[in-house]
Amino acid sequence: MTTPGTAKDAAAASVATQEMPPRGFDVQKIREDFPILKQTVYGKPLVYLDNAATAQTPQTVIDAIDRFYLAQCANIHRGIHLLSERSTAEYEETRAKAQRFLGAAETREIVFVRGTTEAINLVANSYGRKHVGAGDEILITAMEHHSNIVPWQMLCEEKGAVLRVAPINDAGEIVIEEFEKLLNRRTRLVSVSHVSNALGTVNPVERMIEMAHGKGVPVMIDGAQAAPHLKINVQKLDCDFYAFSGHKLYGPTGIGILYGKASLLEAMPPYQGGGDMIRTVSFEKTTYNALPYKFEAGTPNIAGTIGLGAAIDYLNQLGLEQAAAYEHELLAYATKKVSQLPGVRIIGTAREKASVLSFVIDGVHPHDAGTILDQQGIAVRAGHHCAMPVMERFGIPATTRASFAFYNTIEEVDALVSGIEKVQEVFS
Ligand code: ALA
Repeated sequence: MTTPGTAKDAAAASVATQEMPPRGFDVQKIREDFPILKQTVYGKPLVYLDNAATAQTPQTVIDAIDRFYLAQCANIHRGIHLLSERSTAEYEETRAKAQRFLGAAETREIVFVRGTTEAINLVANSYGRKHVGAGDEILITAMEHHSNIVPWQMLCEEKGAVLRVAPINDAGEIVIEEFEKLLNRRTRLVSVSHVSNALGTVNPVERMIEMAHGKGVPVMIDGAQAAPHLKINVQKLDCDFYAFSGHKLYGPTGIGILYGKASLLEAMPPYQGGGDMIRTVSFEKTTYNALPYKFEAGTPNIAGTIGLGAAIDYLNQLGLEQAAAYEHELLAYATKKVSQLPGVRIIGTAREKASVLSFVIDGVHPHDAGTILDQQGIAVRAGHHCAMPVMERFGIPATTRASFAFYNTIEEVDALVSGIEKVQEVFS
């Protein structure tokens, strides 16, 4: 499994063999579906470990987008001609696929947006503006991505409301008792990440939702890092809003999903005005379209939506649960190997984690580590990961972050470990 040669490699292979029993999960075959992974960078095989930022797309997704532009490009919901009808049908089919993927009750609960960021902004601007007033509170956690902080801050500034932040412990886990204490009669909404992009922590969202609902508070879940790695069922979770991005789900950029309970979406004002979101327009008054179109103003990302549909098909065929189990083993192996390296500290050691391994190396700035890893063909992210408060919580400026997908291999984890050793050599 590892590059033959050294005793260290042999040891790694033996750990790998113990930890990676054959599961009928043929990663080499799966890699064939992702043409981009075949390339070399700086003359070295690409080791792509930046999946939490953007995951790669399988050929079937690329083909679906190609097919749209080659044979079917036309606007949706507007034309009476064949191409438009085909486009509309495929666009709406993706809505049904997303509904099943999330376990939502109805297709009208699925709104196409640009991504998780737009979904959160939509809820903040529509639900938030309607329901949040002076002195009210929005509750988030200390591990949120900027996109789940800033829209709420903007809303609070506008309304004179207060943003409350539930603390996390040194492992990067939510302090659930503190979270519960922060819920009170002024709390109008809770918004939390399902999986932290900077730490990899999987939040106990079921419990958090139950606690919030116990106080009559609705909950939005930022699922950007969860949807690619965990099986989601919004009805079982009973969350009120759930968002994810296509490009982290092996689909195209510029497309994402906002799920909202129909009863909430129905009562919310539109987010943007324009074509498709209206029923009638006169200069005196506009009436709005039914769900979900009320929230889909203007020509949407049709090709991206169709590509997302193909990505969902791909994941369904692969089996998300099986892929997640494989990723879990990769993460466990990487965690073990990286934590054995002297002078390397893992940031984010929660009991429940998915995909992400953030670390700092003594005496090396994460950007330098990222650059030296890059020169070895290893793509990671280095920086604050759009989660500056998380960095502050751990008293560090940044981390180097490796994030895994089901097409990564044990050999790639070994390459990362050797890469970190190389970084240490350069800085010794
Ligand atoms: N939110 C993305 C990340 O974590 C961009 O890298």
